[in-house]
Amino acid sequence: MSAVCFDASLAIAPKVEHGIPVADVDAKNDLAEAAVANVLGKVADDTLGFWNLPDDKALADTCKAMADDARSKGSRLVVFGIGGSSLGGRMLQSALAAPDAADVTFVDNVDPHSLDQLFATLDWSDTVFNVISKSGGTVETAAQFVLLREKIIANLGHDGYQARVVATTDPEKGLLHDIAAADGLQTLPIPDNVGGRFSVLTAVGLFPAAFMGLDIHSLLAGAAAMRERCLPPDLRKNPALMNAVLHTLCEQQGKPIHVMMPYCDRLRPFAEWYVQLWAESLGKCVNQAGQPQVTGPTPLVALGATDQHSQIQLYTEGPADKVFTFLAVDDAGADMAFPDDVPAGYAYLKGHSIGKLLDAERRGTTLALARLGRPSVTLHLPEVSAHTIGQLLFMYEAQTAFAGEILDVNAFDQPGVEMGKRIAFGLMGRDGYESDLDGLDALATPDDAWCA
Ligand code: PA5
Repeated sequence: MSAVCFDASLAIAPKVEHGIPVADVDAKNDLAEAAVANVLGKVADDTLGFWNLPDDKALADTCKAMADDARSKGSRLVVFGIGGSSLGGRMLQSALAAPDAADVTFVDNVDPHSLDQLFATLDWSDTVFNVISKSGGTVETAAQFVLLREKIIANLGHDGYQARVVATTDPEKGLLHDIAAADGLQTLPIPDNVGGRFSVLTAVGLFPAAFMGLDIHSLLAGAAAMRERCLPPDLRKNPALMNAVLHTLCEQQGKPIHVMMPYCDRLRPFAEWYVQLWAESLGKCVNQAGQPQVTGPTPLVALGATDQHSQIQLYTEGPADKVFTFLAVDDAGADMAFPDDVPAGYAYLKGHSIGKLLDAERRGTTLALARLGRPSVTLHLPEVSAHTIGQLLFMYEAQTAFAGEILDVNAFDQPGVEMGKRIAFGLMGRDGYESDLDGLDALATPDDAWCA
């Protein structure tokens, strides 16, 4: 199988002026080695579950069987969930689903207009549903589920509801677990030791992927192949470790903005999935011992060549506070040669293809940034397939876990997401959240002097 290839040549100084000096990378050897040992230690004591997911062929078989059953009941799947319970499935769909794949719609937000449009246009007797929440307590998913439950029972009765809704959640606890058991819904598990943003290779991603007809076994095989490459404690031999070291050094050396720029429309949602993984895992205000320490690279998405006409001016001439990741696809699976009959002014296109143009644009941007001293790394995918996407996503999960160790933060929690949620509950009048509104009166009241 073709391997994804990682190239960090243009991240290193002095070749690239503002890159990372070789000596600084070498100085991280011991820390990098310890990061691998710590991550593998957490895997061994069973607190870090994503690492072993590529081995769970039985779960993949279960997801496939349940997806086949769901497809026998409806040609469309609507998936409700948010954050890590949505972005992975979307990323797989965008990268891998064939144009004639079964229709899967991911609904993450609670925008009343979008939900109203969805429910108004649904063919209830030809649609199945997947509600995903690991905790079972996420308000957005709870709200979607409550509305869905009422509408599906009104349209198809309780039997239709039971037959058409699959709940993916913690196998032992949580509100969604309890409701699914009481209502007699089919369920799929999310293991306790797998965090939401690391859950794409659980039923969270595999069930929708199987419904779309994706080769989920090949996805797992790709992830397993990359896992082997992420084991060596030597950062020069381990792409995830090398990228973790380079990016954490960038963060510490005045380049906290980390831009991922696929030159492939299908991979834009991969960059969106990466943004959540990197941001929610590494943006923290305490170290692993609970002492104050602020860290947090800011990940951004750009799409080549589209965003060359929106963001690249900033990236080339604005502050040198960024490191770039380019995703290149060697074989896009399709290409179109330019015709011989090209108007004179566009004659430079003759003899080339649109794929060659996109590749030249990627190389042009990479080299322009390098010439201006701005560091980048490039990941080359031989093709976009279940196997290469499995490799790529596992590399980023491993890289994030290693980066957490290098920065000494807990990459697997998200306490900062809580405060806004608690205030929203207080505003909704939920019991037990009254004190979350304490002291907010002044902040919640607009100042006339500053409202125009
Ligand atoms: O990565 C995470 O843990 C979060 O983004 C969660 O996936 C998100 O908040 C949804 O949580 P849950 O699956 O519990 O509804």
